[in-house]
Amino acid sequence: MNIKNICCIGAGYVGGPTMSVIAKFCPDIQVNVVDINHKRISQWNEKNLSDLPIYEPGLREIIEKCRGKNLHFSTDLKKNIEKADMIFISVNTPTKIRGIGSGQAIDLKYVEASSREISKYARGHTIVVEKSTLPVKTAQTIKAILDAATEDVNKSKITKTFSVLSNPEFLAEGTAISDLENPDRVLIGGEDKEAINELVNIYSKWIDKVKVLTTDLWSSELSKLISNAFLAQRISSINTISALCEATGARIKDVSLAVGMDRRIGKYFLNSGPGFGGSCFKKDISNLVYISNHYGLFEVANYWQKVLDINSWQQKRFVELIVKKMFGTISSKKIAILGFAFKANTNDTRESPAINICKKLIEEGAFLKIYDPKVKEHQIIKELGLNENNKEHRDWEYSNSIHKTFKDVDAALFLTEWCEFASLNWRDISKIMRKPSWVFDTRSIVDMDLVKENGINIWQVGYGN
Ligand code: UDX
Ligand code: UDX
Repeated sequence: MNIKNICCIGAGYVGGPTMSVIAKFCPDIQVNVVDINHKRISQWNEKNLSDLPIYEPGLREIIEKCRGKNLHFSTDLKKNIEKADMIFISVNTPTKIRGIGSGQAIDLKYVEASSREISKYARGHTIVVEKSTLPVKTAQTIKAILDAATEDVNKSKITKTFSVLSNPEFLAEGTAISDLENPDRVLIGGEDKEAINELVNIYSKWIDKVKVLTTDLWSSELSKLISNAFLAQRISSINTISALCEATGARIKDVSLAVGMDRRIGKYFLNSGPGFGGSCFKKDISNLVYISNHYGLFEVANYWQKVLDINSWQQKRFVELIVKKMFGTISSKKIAILGFAFKANTNDTRESPAINICKKLIEEGAFLKIYDPKVKEHQIIKELGLNENNKEHRDWEYSNSIHKTFKDVDAALFLTEWCEFASLNWRDISKIMRKPSWVFDTRSIVDMDLVKENGINIWQVGYGN
């Protein structure tokens, strides 16, 4: 088998960038990204590249080069599944919101639906690759659905066979393209050696083979879950220490630096902040807790649950701290919110700490002026659950201009580490804020000395006085 045609179901934050990079490095392969969401597909096909559905540094350039040549975006699942030699499943895998495992287990309905589409339309031998992060042993579900199709068609004598591989994504938003082009490792799990080789051959077009790790299916699925759990655990660990630093007069930045310089620990993922957001960490750890409980490993489940608890606690403690510093009440006070995305260099707001923090501040009676260089107003409306048609009664407003965001506010709260926040003109800002003015910096992004020099009170995460 020589892979000539790839189909990817799911044109989201994972499917879009991953397929773009494959198309870039494999000009001989036709890559078709399909999605049930018509609006999303038309955004991927937008002439104006600044209207692509997701923002990722470096993505635009690849789309410009490959789209229409060997990279295509379509809603036609049937046609593209039929002609594919290899199909990636990159659909979203949300946490269940009702029924057994509600709030913890992963809802596999989209993965199952995709598997059924594949089983219906695939022809000949097809390699099916699970790209979405899934609970351990999901490949078994996918296989069972596909095998059922094989039995059906065997009766009608159409050839239809499948191999299932697990190939988890390790891309972080904001650096997705460089993570894909130069990954720490590529993980491929499976039982069919030939199918594994086909996928290895694709990646080895641009990645050194020593970085491609092959395992059994379950080890691959579990490794992805555990990688995310370890990363999230580091963030919760450093966030607990930020509170200790504030209480004792130490400085979190120095502590992180000193601790991270030990090669055994490493310097990454030691930035204290408002807690982790994004589509993966919370969902994956909840799933780990669920799986551990399922196997009767209650201590294991409790251990990982704490990582989630600390994440919520950090956000709660920030709100309490803001209220306390602002003379015990923020009712009718104006607060500028700087950054709504869950981290810099993305327009994604899924599980962003800003959502809970803003909701709590509104509950306390504050009026918010929200600015983010990449997040659009309709997205914030969706997250804060407010009525778009009822704008005049809202407890917040969207700000297009960073400078105007500070006008007449009592405090400015920094929630995303956008680079432009590091070089603000505090002299000008101090003139337009209401006095006494406050800056709350949860990302250690602003220049504390400059803020103080201009007569503004400042609190920074993990900075004990
Ligand atoms: C990814 C992963 O795949 C998921 O496992 C991970 O944990 C979160 O991130 P992501 O690409 O970020 O998903 O999700 P999203 O941006 O929501 O894109 C998924 C796409 O799949 C959506 O555009 C949705 O319309 C599409 N979809 C969903 C289908 O095409 N068919 C379906 O049946 C369901
Ligand atoms: C994560 C994983 O990094 C990636 O490998 C996986 O495939 C998908 O999930 P992502 O969610 O895009 O990627 O972003 P990541 O950079 O991991 O950040 C997650 C959250 O942790 C963000 O809210 C970020 O601000 C926060 N974070 C990260 C910290 O608070 N401190 C840090 O030191 C690092």
